[in-house]
Amino acid sequence: MTSIPANANMSEKTLHDENQELPTLAEEASHTGESIVEGKTVGTPYADDAKFKLRDVEVFYGENRAIKSVSLDIATNEVIAFIGPSGCGKSTFLRSLNRMNDSVESCRVKGTLELDGQDLYDPRQDVVELRARVGMVFQKPNPFPKSIYDNVAYGPRIHGLANRKSDLDDIVESSLRKAGLWDEVKDRLDATATGMSGGQQQRLCIARTIAVSPEVVLMDEPCSALDPIATAKVEELIAELSQSYTIVIVTHSMQQAARVSHRTAYFHLGHLVEVNDTSTVFTAPEHQMTESYITGRFG
Ligand SMILES: Nc1ncnc2c1ncn2[C@@H]1O[C@H](COP(=O)(O)OP(=O)(O)OP(=O)(O)O)[C@@H](O)[C@H]1O
Ligand SMILES: [Mg+2]
Repeated sequence: MTSIPANANMSEKTLHDENQELPTLAEEASHTGESIVEGKTVGTPYADDAKFKLRDVEVFYGENRAIKSVSLDIATNEVIAFIGPSGCGKSTFLRSLNRMNDSVESCRVKGTLELDGQDLYDPRQDVVELRARVGMVFQKPNPFPKSIYDNVAYGPRIHGLANRKSDLDDIVESSLRKAGLWDEVKDRLDATATGMSGGQQQRLCIARTIAVSPEVVLMDEPCSALDPIATAKVEELIAELSQSYTIVIVTHSMQQAARVSHRTAYFHLGHLVEVNDTSTVFTAPEHQMTESYITGRFG
């Protein structure tokens, strides 16, 4: 969707001169001209048609405040990319959107987190139902040690989405088609999923996620283990899915953020520094810290 200026750090650390010592995050934060003000995000963090309304969100692991007063709307059917240096809280914030952090004992989430106006953290909220609405694709493909068919049919079965075998067959086929995998696997649906290539496994996991018709798909570095061809397939898929789903993608690849997302959110040490149209973030970032990051002044 956007081209990146030639001087932009493409995030792949190998692009840096191996001998060049990059400043640490803390050093950079103390040297930069523009400081980060807690709770203040520059750009356009709010949206009219918010799917998620997130206000003053804080996430703690014990005493460590990993997310610091973040406010953001995620609009219906947008693709938003989360970028920022390692450890800045991208995964933590992403996982708070479908309560994946619930399983981390030391983790506490504060603030307002609403999905379609409903409190995600209401104790009456059924977490299994929430995760069917807000699906997740992980960095490492994690198919079940079952057949290709059973992987995709798993969610529809436990959620009772198909009464007849033919309905289930239809869901499996349409999910695999949407994930761009049908032609590769239609003759071996009974084969075990763990025998597929990494790229196929990741697309299978996407098919498994969309088989329960989620409204939102969260993706945490979904292509980091994939080769360029498989990556291109997943990116095409994201573009297609964005017609009907809201997608939040964490990525370390700035080219990927530029290719697939409408808006980009830049995180730094738990703060949400800037949110803007992806083209603005990569061509004319408003905040000095964003600019420093995308031009490779630290990593
Ligand atoms: N399960 C956990 N228990 C305790 N602390 C955690 C846990 N997960 C993350 N953290 C801490 O929270 C902070 C943010 O981590 P997080 O994994 O969200 O960063 P990230 O931006 O996703 O990094 P990366 O790009 O390396 O994936 C870090 O300080 C990390 O050490
Ligand atoms: Mg992460």
